[in-house]
Amino acid sequence: MRFDVLTLFPEIFSSYLGQSLLAKAIEGNLVEVHPHDMRKWANDKHNRVDDRPFGGGAGMVIRAEPVVECVEAVQREGSHPGRLIMLSPQGRRLDQRLVEELSQESRLLLLCGRYEGFDQRVSDLLQPEEISIGDYVLNGGEVAAMAIIDAVIRLIPGVLGDETSSVDDSFSSGNRLLEFPQYTRPRVYRGLAAPDVLLSGDHAQIAAWRKQQSIERTKRRRADLLDRDVESEDE
Ligand code: ADE
Repeated sequence: MRFDVLTLFPEIFSSYLGQSLLAKAIEGNLVEVHPHDMRKWANDKHNRVDDRPFGGGAGMVIRAEPVVECVEAVQREGSHPGRLIMLSPQGRRLDQRLVEELSQESRLLLLCGRYEGFDQRVSDLLQPEEISIGDYVLNGGEVAAMAIIDAVIRLIPGVLGDETSSVDDSFSSGNRLLEFPQYTRPRVYRGLAAPDVLLSGDHAQIAAWRKQQSIERTKRRRADLLDRDVESEDE
């Protein structure tokens, strides 16, 4: 799977790309991540990517030209243009369902904004799909782009060591519940013992306990997920 990240701050991605899981996926040719500096497409004499908003007001607006030219050039690079996503607090909210959908694509272009946003003509011309990672405002789309890459690559076969280890994740398909609690050695730590059932060797009982814990935890912390599950079953 190929990710192209279009940004004014490509250096933000350098340490993230060296992070172990992603670095291994890149090395194993399962994932490619290409950051692109949109500044290189600012062809006016001052190389300006932003300017004051028409009509006045606070902040700066990213000019349409470097963004549109950069997206078009990057789209021409691959065998097909890919799915164009603009990170924005105004977009469709990211959840595991959308992450699963995105993981089926072979190429994603992630367009990261800054300042007061893009000139509207970027959206008018390129018609990107807007995605938000939550109802709060970040200083730019880069952290949101990383969140998408991070969540999507977990679902690409071969990226996680154990093929099944994303199956039990909270929100994953077939399990729209929060994940159950996990324990490892020592059996007792500061007087707190791991539940006996987990050491019983009885796999059916362990599975039943975990399911029960997931349901209880979800009821307590995120009852909205249970309502949504019932809704989606009705569909
Ligand atoms: N850019 C700024 N805030 C954002 C958010 N919440 N999600 C995606 N992109 C953003």
